[in-house]
Amino acid sequence: MNRVVFINRKDLLGLRCMCKKDLQLILDSVKPFKNIFTGSIKKVPLLIGKTVATLFYEPSTRTKTSFEIAAKKLSADVINITINTSSVIKGESLIDTGKTLEAMKSDYIIIRHFFAGAPDILARNLNASVINAGDGFHEHPTQALLDLYTIYENKKKIENLKVLIVGDILHSRVAKSDIWALTKMGAKVAVVGPSTLIPANIEDFGVKVYYDLDEAVCGVDVVNILRIQFERQQENFFPSIHEYIKFYQLTMKRLKMAKPDVLVMHPGPVNRGIEISTEVADSSNTLINDQVTNGIAVRMAILYLLKHENKKEFNV
Ligand code: CP
Repeated sequence: MNRVVFINRKDLLGLRCMCKKDLQLILDSVKPFKNIFTGSIKKVPLLIGKTVATLFYEPSTRTKTSFEIAAKKLSADVINITINTSSVIKGESLIDTGKTLEAMKSDYIIIRHFFAGAPDILARNLNASVINAGDGFHEHPTQALLDLYTIYENKKKIENLKVLIVGDILHSRVAKSDIWALTKMGAKVAVVGPSTLIPANIEDFGVKVYYDLDEAVCGVDVVNILRIQFERQQENFFPSIHEYIKFYQLTMKRLKMAKPDVLVMHPGPVNRGIEISTEVADSSNTLINDQVTNGIAVRMAILYLLKHENKKEFNV
């Protein structure tokens, strides 16, 4: 049994600056938390007396609920701020909203914001731990950590795995965080999509670029499919949705070109029949629901590992 070595950080803002050692520590810490909430114990008092606030300026089903469940499994109190019925719509600034939550003795603020950098602004101005739950096109670190863990759980390694990320890379914060995490852990990462949806100079991040899905999918270990983020697009990036489906939908025919034990992943929400066929979405290779379950365990580990006072000890 090894004692968890605490990550000496107050906030989790992104994975670009996270080292391989911390990524490995998180991977190694998740299983005991998964055992808690999927086993008979269900709940532990590790964060008893702590308050976790969720502050979501954009819609969410998975991330917000997952953080709430994770915090409750650790016995924290949870408050959810609904932006549409909060004083944000009366013009309150982000920092003032954060300071208000801190004055109410929130120990953690989980923030999703349409503005890339909003979690960083909050973290610099508060003593509370700030966790980025997705900021603009920038990063979605806990999604990438749950993706990383789901691959690790199934393949028992990350190094040298061929991982293909498909679709709207340009607007995807998940793709960016996945790329940082996977490349640091030694995976061979490639992206594929229409040239208009691939960021310029993405090769500088250590990824290979393809424009042809039939070519890119050959022999891969993992395919991570992204949703077309119409809500972030100010212009048309491909001629029509029919063309997108024809060239970039993951179908069973295309999946057969990957390795037989390929893992199919999707961060959700899924648009069946657009980026992924229903047959693939429901196939035995697909881990979409496992990703959601692992998301709770990963977020329990993150809440626990972040630096805070009066932390109770937990052996893993
Ligand atoms: N994957 C993800 O971030 O999903 P939600 O938008 O539902 O939180």
